[in-house]
Formats: sequence, C-alpha cells, structure tokens
Amino acid sequence: MISPEQPEENGPLNDLHEWEEDVLQRYPEPRSVKKGSLFTDPSKKKSEFRNYEQTVRDSVKEFYRLNHMNQTVDFVKQKRAQYLPLKKRRLGMWQALEHLNTLVDDSDPDTDLLQIAHAMQTAEQIRSDGHPRWFILAGLIHDLGKVLCLWGEPQWAVVGDTFPVGCKFSDRIVLPEFFQDNPDSQVPEYQTELGIYESECGLENVLMSWGHDEYIYHVTKDYLPLEALYMLRYHSFYPGHRGGAYQQLMNDQDREYFQYVKKSNPYDLYTKSSTPPDVEKLGPYYRDLIAEFFPDEIAW
Ligand SMILES: [Fe+2]
Ligand SMILES: [Fe+2]
Repeated sequence: MISPEQPEENGPLNDLHEWEEDVLQRYPEPRSVKKGSLFTDPSKKKSEFRNYEQTVRDSVKEFYRLNHMNQTVDFVKQKRAQYLPLKKRRLGMWQALEHLNTLVDDSDPDTDLLQIAHAMQTAEQIRSDGHPRWFILAGLIHDLGKVLCLWGEPQWAVVGDTFPVGCKFSDRIVLPEFFQDNPDSQVPEYQTELGIYESECGLENVLMSWGHDEYIYHVTKDYLPLEALYMLRYHSFYPGHRGGAYQQLMNDQDREYFQYVKKSNPYDLYTKSSTPPDVEKLGPYYRDLIAEFFPDEIAW
C-alpha cells in the first residue's frame, strides 16, 4: 500500500470533481448528440459566459483564481523539471488506478469510488460504441495524472482547463480576468499572439499549463498510439478543442489529431451520471487490456 502524501489543505475545491462539474455546466450535453460529431463552438457568445460567471460557485472561482495566477512559464518549467524525468516511482497502470482511488473527499463518504468509477464508466461507454482497444484504454487511464494530487500538488496544478503559457492568454479560457494577477501578464514577450513560439510550431513545442494531462502523456508516451496520446495530453485543453483558440501554434499534425481529442471528450464529460460500473466484474477485462499495451510496471 502506497501511503498518500495528500496535504491537509491543497485547494479550495471539496474534491477534484467539482472542477469537472463546472466544465459540464459550461459545456452541457447537447440535446441531440450525433455520435462523434461534437465540434468546437467558437461562436459562443460573450453573454453566455457572463451568465456562467453569475452562477459559478465561489470555491470553483477561487480555484480558477489560483490556477490563473500561478501557472507561469517559470512554474511550468519547474514542474516539468521535477516530474518529467519520471523518477518519482514505478507503478503498474492498475496499481495507479487503485492508488488514485485513495484520493477521497473526507466530507463526502459517497465519493470514495468516484475516481475508478469515472475511469471505468468512460472506458465502458467507449467500448459499447465499438471503438478500438487503444481508445478504450485511453478512456480508462485519461485521468491517472491526478495522482499528482496525492503527491502533494495543489488542486490548481493538477486539474483545471489547460492553456499555453509563454504567449497571450486567450479570452476563451474560463474567467480570463484572473490572468491580471499572473506575473507573466507583465512580461511583454509573453503577451503577443505567438509569445516565445514560432507560428504553427506545433503544440509539441509549446509549454502547456501544468496538470494531469501533460503528466499522463509523458508517463504513457512510449506505449500508446499517437491518437491515444493526443486524447490524454489535451483532454483538458478546452480553450483549444472546444474554443478553437491557439490555432496559430498548431501544426498540421495537431489539426489532424485533434479530431481524436474531440471524439473522446464527450465520453469524459457525459458519462458520469449513469449507474456505477461493477469494478470487480470488469477488473479482469481491464487488466488484460492494460497488459496488452503496458509492461507490469512503468516509470512515473
Ligand atoms: Fe481529466
Ligand atoms: Fe475525466
């Protein structure tokens, strides 16, 4: 048993799902969803966002304030240097799922299965739609980077919509006014459309705000097809895959592979309310699936 290193106080949210509930409020399930046809909505009106701002919970607002204030170029570089050598520990994928499940919300005893349930529900829905095995696996493991929270990282450095740092913060990022307090806003070099990047340099060369997406991408990058890696790496990049922002940084590969990010996002967002999956019964299937792509242990 790995002991959690969760600090007493690591953020304003009651639990990480509070951010995801908020995302759902911003991007509600369309009434008639044609399968696989959810595209970005760059035409979303300012007034819709204003309406959102009136209803967003204080804890969520405080979470975004901290996120937007603290995600700087220096912070991202520091976290990449800390985690990306993947020297933290060695864990099997199933073990990581169980580890993540120890991330519980003390104030609500009903949430203790939420992490593994969300992972399996997402994967089961993908499976029932007949998608390839790597797609199902991506659904299962997409949130495993949240183990960062167990390793002492504050909520604002684990979840939240992601965005590039080192260039102008898009107004398509939720609650963009909070970027006023980000020290990078005072760095002229970081506040042009391209910032420190070259036009269409590819997201591979862009520093994204630090969180569970970027981390799980690096942990899994030697084992999964590129389609799945895009799903993992950019699933919280709502300003990009829903908002259509940051096109100036994307290259042909990004434009092509974002179809997979868009294809997987509805499974992440819209499968949460169904009945909880039978973790025990489904365990063997998912252990086999993991074993097909990953060795017993990998570096985290
Ligand atoms: Fe996620
Ligand atoms: Fe998720």
